[in-house]
Formats: sequence, structure tokens, C-alpha cells
Amino acid sequence: MQTLNPREQGNSGCPVRNSLLYLDNAATSFPKPDSVCDAVDVWMRGGAAAAGRGTHRKAEAADRMIDECRRQLATLLGVSIPAQIVFTLNCTDSLNTVLQGFLEPGDAVVATALDHNSVLRPLEALRQRIGIAVEIIPFDPVTGLIDAPRFTQVLAEKKIRLVVLNHASNVTGRVQSVAELTRVAHAHGASVLLDAAQTAGHWPLSMAELDVDFLAAAGHKGLLGPLGTGILCLRRGLETQLPPLRFGGTGTASESLVQPSDMPTRFESGNLNLPGIVGLHAATKWILTQGVEKLRSQIHARTAQLLEELKRLQNVSVLRPCLESSNCGIVSFNIGHMDCQDVAMILDQSFDIQSRAGLHCAPLLHQTLDPRSSHGTIRLSPGVFTTEDDIAHAVQAVREIAAHA
Ligand SMILES: Cc1ncc(COP(=O)(O)O)c(C=O)c1O
Repeated sequence: MQTLNPREQGNSGCPVRNSLLYLDNAATSFPKPDSVCDAVDVWMRGGAAAAGRGTHRKAEAADRMIDECRRQLATLLGVSIPAQIVFTLNCTDSLNTVLQGFLEPGDAVVATALDHNSVLRPLEALRQRIGIAVEIIPFDPVTGLIDAPRFTQVLAEKKIRLVVLNHASNVTGRVQSVAELTRVAHAHGASVLLDAAQTAGHWPLSMAELDVDFLAAAGHKGLLGPLGTGILCLRRGLETQLPPLRFGGTGTASESLVQPSDMPTRFESGNLNLPGIVGLHAATKWILTQGVEKLRSQIHARTAQLLEELKRLQNVSVLRPCLESSNCGIVSFNIGHMDCQDVAMILDQSFDIQSRAGLHCAPLLHQTLDPRSSHGTIRLSPGVFTTEDDIAHAVQAVREIAAHA
């Protein structure tokens, strides 16, 4: 398979690669396609007007760019109406907009032990502040899949208003069967919020096909945009069931003291992060040109290579669900009894490899999976530009560390 090159569609001086090997794409992707860096640079130097607030040409160009970005996202994520896509700060902001807006005192919500703290903490805060009930569904430690019988039982027995589903775990990479779980949730009258932080951009994902009601994603991970970008997609009409987190100027209906109710303005108060969105615009254009399937298989090949090699190493234990074939590009492991933070430090300082260590903001997952849950794991996450040589270098580094552990 031909390796993708971040520079193939641009030519500016964006610092694409340095001597470090970046394998922390599950946190935020790096490098970005060169066209993304170029677009942000050009915008900052020549076009930095506010959108939705002016009639001059630069402001109109900003409006057009934003509309186009929404259309590209709609194409990528199977959203039929682009205006149902809201720009947010990150995936956490998108999740909070739904959780804090939709849930009311006395509501019951289902989440899972796979969830990230960007779901678990807002739910805990709401439990304490307004008195919601939170049901946590376990998962199978071997397959990494949500316990479907338990899920169905809870939905059947309790009146659940909202189900939060994790599309893929940020620790195991395991992708869930969302469409089936959503059918069960809807059959029992619950709405579904999908956390697609780890899949949007490089895993086939269609809001229409999965039939979820809300979809939250980061713009800066698989979607390859800059940090500070996120998106929330809402099923048409559901916006009326959640008040915005923030109220303020929208550049429309300024005579009224009431927040406009139309989409996406209802949730986009204040100036948008245009340098971020212009980068996301270039990134989504690049992804559409490459095709999600090509990016998925590129990451799959590197992940499979990494898993295959790590499995053979003595003293290295890979988390079991990472080995399943529907892995979106995440490998978590431990070396002997070494503290994972020490391993990450050695990888960085002796081998120039950037990894991630710890609980990865998923405390309940570690309680289920790993007896050493207080430490967590070392996580390596290849990106669309990771090469075979990069993986070989990472494996050699782990081999050397494990030999001395
Ligand atoms: C599964 C999952 N959900 C939510 C988030 C939060 O994303 P963001 O950093 O964009 O707020 C992350 C971040 O790593 C994640 O992995």
C-alpha cells in the first residue's frame, strides 16, 4: 500500500514533521495535511474577517467557507441537512451541549463503562446538581463490546430518556455495533447520543445509517482539523428539546433579546473559531478527496502491523480487545510490571517516540479490563501518515525496553 504524504497537496513552510515519531493520534492528529496548514496561514494573513456579521466581501467569503465546510462535513458524516451541524470547541463541548441541555431533573440515562470522562463527568455533575439517574452498562473484557443483553434489559425495565454510546473506545479502539443498540434504544423510547471522537474522519460513519439522534465529534482528531474545533450533529427537530449552553450575539435578529431558535445559530453564539474552521474546511476537503475507506485501510494496516509485532514480544501484554479486527487504530499495552508513565518517558527521551500513558480519561474501562488499573496502559495510535518504518521503529523501541524490564 502506498504511504500517504502530508505534503502531497501543498507546498508551504508548515512544520510537517520533526525528528520525533508521533504516535498519539487518538489525542489529536499530527501531522495535518499540508493543505490544512496552508489554509490557516492564508486565512490569518489575508482573510481574517468575522462571519455572519458583515456585508463586505471578506465577511461574505467567510460565510461561504463556513457553509461549504458544513456541507463537506454533512457528506462525510451522512447528515442530510448541513444546518443541523453545529461548530463547537471540541468533542467535550458537543457532548456537554447535549447532556446539559437535554437531560432534566428525574431523567434516567444509560452510559457505558467504555465512556470517556467527557461523558462520565457531566453525567456525575448532573446527577449531583439536578438529580438524574445514571445506569452504567458493562462490556465484555475479551471482545470489548457493550453487554447487549444487559443493555436491552435495562432499556426494557427502566424508563430511559437518553442513551450515550461510545462508537470506539479511546483505549481499545474497538468499534461498537451502534445500529443494533440504537434500534433497541429507540424501541424503548430513548434518544441516542453517539460519541464519535475516535472514528469521525477515518472510519465509515453515517448518522443517517446508524439512525442516532445526536452525534458528537472532535474536529482535531480523525477529521484532521486544528485543535479547538469540534462538531455536534442533531436530528432535525430535536434542537427544540435542548436549550443552548451559551446565549449571545449571532449576527441575526439583533433587535430581539431572545436567542434565535433556527439552526445552527441557536447553538453558535459569539464569533466562531474561523482559523480553526478554515483548517477543518481544508481537512474535510482533503479527506473527501482521499476517501474515508482509503484512510481507514491505511490506519488498519499500520495498526495490524503494530499488533502483530507486539504480540510476539516477551514481557509485553496487549489489551485483549485491541486485537479484534474492528479496531479504529489504537493499541494499548503494558510491559512487565513497569509503570506505564515510565515507559512513555523512556519512549520519548530515548527513542523520540511520542505516546500516551495512564488511564486515558476512561477510569471505568480500566476497572473492568486490567488488574493494574491504577496505572493504566501505554497507548500508541497511528495516524493516516504513519509509515511501516515508523511502526518498525516503535516495535524495536518496545522490544528494547521490554528486554530490560
Ligand atoms: C472517546 C472520546 N470522547 C471524547 C473525547 C474528548 O474529545 P475532545 O478532546 O475533542 O474534547 C475524547 C478525547 O480523547 C475521546 O477519546
